[in-house]
Amino acid sequence: MKILIIYGTTDGQTRKVSRFVADYLVDIGHSIELIHVAESEDPDAELSRFDAALLAGSIHMGKFQSALSEFARKNSAALNGMKTAFLSVSLSAAGSNESDWGGLHDCLSNFTEETGWNPDHVEHVAGALRFEEYDYFKSLAMRWIAAKREAEVDSKQNKEYTDWEALKVFLDDWAVSADT
Ligand SMILES: Cc1cc2nc3c(=O)[nH]c(=O)nc-3n(C[C@H](O)[C@H](O)[C@H](O)COP(=O)(O)O)c2cc1C
Repeated sequence: MKILIIYGTTDGQTRKVSRFVADYLVDIGHSIELIHVAESEDPDAELSRFDAALLAGSIHMGKFQSALSEFARKNSAALNGMKTAFLSVSLSAAGSNESDWGGLHDCLSNFTEETGWNPDHVEHVAGALRFEEYDYFKSLAMRWIAAKREAEVDSKQNKEYTDWEALKVFLDDWAVSADT
């Protein structure tokens, strides 16, 4: 299949996830176009060129990147008419706290309501704490959030929660279902 991957990122983890997804899908025989939604000169990609589309974005203060929401909103009709998946990258997905997961589901329903796009599949992907990218205040806020969750973090080091093997399992299943 020819697959478009379009992603939004604030601190870089969703770029890393999207590159991993692109490499893996190529390895299993698909052809990929990978676009960073905010950097693309033509984010209104001609979706009819693709058999399937995978969007990825991360949650910051309860919202996905606005450029990604805008892309999904503008292209909702085309996206709803093709095979799609949404990778939602967050810290809440790294744990099993019920209220965190409630928050994730709220973020997603706000996103689908705002954009009018209903992905065939949503995969919640655990993200990362990227202290090397944060300024002083962001670092302080993230250390406070981690402490509230009793997670041990060393603010001199990035901490990655992404489960790369689980992502491969999701991609295997999704690629088969999208190809039928
Ligand atoms: C300022 C800030 C706010 C965040 N807000 C949330 C949030 O509301 N819910 C959540 O689950 N994760 C939240 N996160 C965690 C991010 O989703 C996580 O770090 C993710 O890996 C970021 O992906 P990115 O590097 O692609 O931007 C937040 C992170 C930062 C730095």
